[in-house]
Amino acid sequence: MSKRILLLHGPNLNLLGTREPEVYGTATLGDHIARTRECATDFGFEVEDLQSNHEGDLIEAVHGARGRCDAIIINPGAFTHSSWALHDALAAFDGVVVEVHLSNPDAREPWRRTSVVAPVATGSISGFGGTGYELAVRAVAARLQ
Ligand code: DQA
Repeated sequence: MSKRILLLHGPNLNLLGTREPEVYGTATLGDHIARTRECATDFGFEVEDLQSNHEGDLIEAVHGARGRCDAIIINPGAFTHSSWALHDALAAFDGVVVEVHLSNPDAREPWRRTSVVAPVATGSISGFGGTGYELAVRAVAARLQ
């Protein structure tokens, strides 16, 4: 059976393409999802995706991935810096977790330098724009294969 990746995006990422393009680039969320899916297909992975501006939706998606998905690739948006509830949900997920950021939060405002997701991620990729999603798929493949 194919391995399954859940690709999650948090708040405001539905605005990618027009939201602060000097920081996040001009690719839309759809572009990033398509790129991730294309790379995942090369490795024989299935991809499910969800974007939500609501913390509870993301938490429920993580719960729904338990026992069903092999990996989660997540760009939690600003929930990265605040959501202990998302942290706890990811801690209860058994598979590989890759945290992705388009920008490099460590090189930005001080409040972005703390990630509450990083401690429960297998690893984190930041600052490489959309390439980060391809790197995340490769990282999942390296872990699972
Ligand atoms: C982001 C970085 C976060 O600090 C920010 O709140 C976002 C996007 C990124 O992809 O660079 O919404 O996760």
